[in-house]
Amino acid sequence: MPTKKEVRIGIIGLGNVAAGLIQGIEYYKTNPSTEQGLMHKVICSYGVGSVKLASAFDISSGKVGKSVDAALYSSPNLVNWLKIPKSAVSVKQGPRLDSVGKYVENLIKPVKERPINILENEIISEINNSGTTVLVNLLPVGSQRATEFWAGIALKTKCAFVNSIPVFIASNKTWAKRFKESKVPLVGDDMKGLIGSTIVHRILTKLTQDRGTTLINTYQINIGGNTDFKNMLERERLTSKKISKTDSVQSQLHSPLKQNSIHIGPSDFVEFLGNTKIAYMYMHGLMWGGRPYEIDVKLEVDDKANAGGILIDAIRLAKVAQDRRISGALIGPSAYLMKHPPVQYSDDIAQEKLEAFIDGKSNDK
Ligand SMILES: NC(=O)c1ccc[n+]([C@@H]2O[C@H](COP(=O)([O-])OP(=O)(O)OC[C@H]3O[C@@H](n4cnc5c(N)ncnc54)[C@H](O)[C@@H]3O)[C@@H](O)[C@H]2O)c1
Repeated sequence: MPTKKEVRIGIIGLGNVAAGLIQGIEYYKTNPSTEQGLMHKVICSYGVGSVKLASAFDISSGKVGKSVDAALYSSPNLVNWLKIPKSAVSVKQGPRLDSVGKYVENLIKPVKERPINILENEIISEINNSGTTVLVNLLPVGSQRATEFWAGIALKTKCAFVNSIPVFIASNKTWAKRFKESKVPLVGDDMKGLIGSTIVHRILTKLTQDRGTTLINTYQINIGGNTDFKNMLERERLTSKKISKTDSVQSQLHSPLKQNSIHIGPSDFVEFLGNTKIAYMYMHGLMWGGRPYEIDVKLEVDDKANAGGILIDAIRLAKVAQDRRISGALIGPSAYLMKHPPVQYSDDIAQEKLEAFIDGKSNDK
């Protein structure tokens, strides 16, 4: 039975991020004194272990109908940090819509489609019966219609919505208004990594400006070897991802760079990298006396650990908003945790706003 101290989540898309989130929660439960990798051990009485998986939705034939403890290790997932205990939650089918890209269809192996109205009724029953109160969107990049379907489910079931992917919901005025009017909180869009390429690039970009120099041009190239990177080989699915990543860096400059002076995006799929993501960042600027300088950075990180460390806070903050009856897009939490929030701030100001929200000193308006 759900208790007040629990955050009962429903995950949409049991891929590598979900596997990293759930295995990470297990890691902190078995190592309760560990704080490394956590921005907040506790948020308003919710520890990491307060977050419980209550429902799960996928379309992969290797996952639908299986218990979550089996599905999370099912191919093409790669995260295998530790074993989780047996779970009573079994994975239910969601609608496919536009979620399956041409390069990953043979990996996902979608189950046979069923009418969307039947699936919708089953999903709403599952959410209500399982006591799910926060929905976490982890669909593949390019899932515009599928994400809109799930944002609609959040509104119908009054679940808080954490939109971790680059489809614009929290940063879309119409959607944000619908959440506000339906009294449902929303955090989004497109999560940053804990030590991800976006936050490193943003902070370096701000530094070039704070030190009075002029950034002339910059690029960020990302490679990885998981399903997410394979899916992103399909350039047509990438439009909002590129906007999200580029806007995030541009937002740190008083005058944004011209389009042809900035290149940021997922760049290639290198299978043997698995969940290791490598980002190369280059910056070229002018300083004192008009003299040039260059910065070259290589960041190598476990892409899914990067995601888990952000999601665990986004989920708890969404629940706190729900407890306090705060609705609509959460400005401070979204600005600190997401690449494409409704309002961009520098990361230090965004962090202050998030802390003020936790302390109850801001109702996030
Ligand atoms: N650091 C990060 O990993 C990071 C950062 C920002 C954003 N994201 C985004 O998070 C999302 C999830 O990433 P991932 O690595 O877990 O991807 P993944 O490809 O491993 O997982 C996607 C899951 O969604 C399932 N799925 C596909 N269509 C579905 C549907 N219609 N309904 C339900 N499930 C469906 C797939 O079967 C798979 O299990 C991606 O959009 C990714 O870009 C990840």
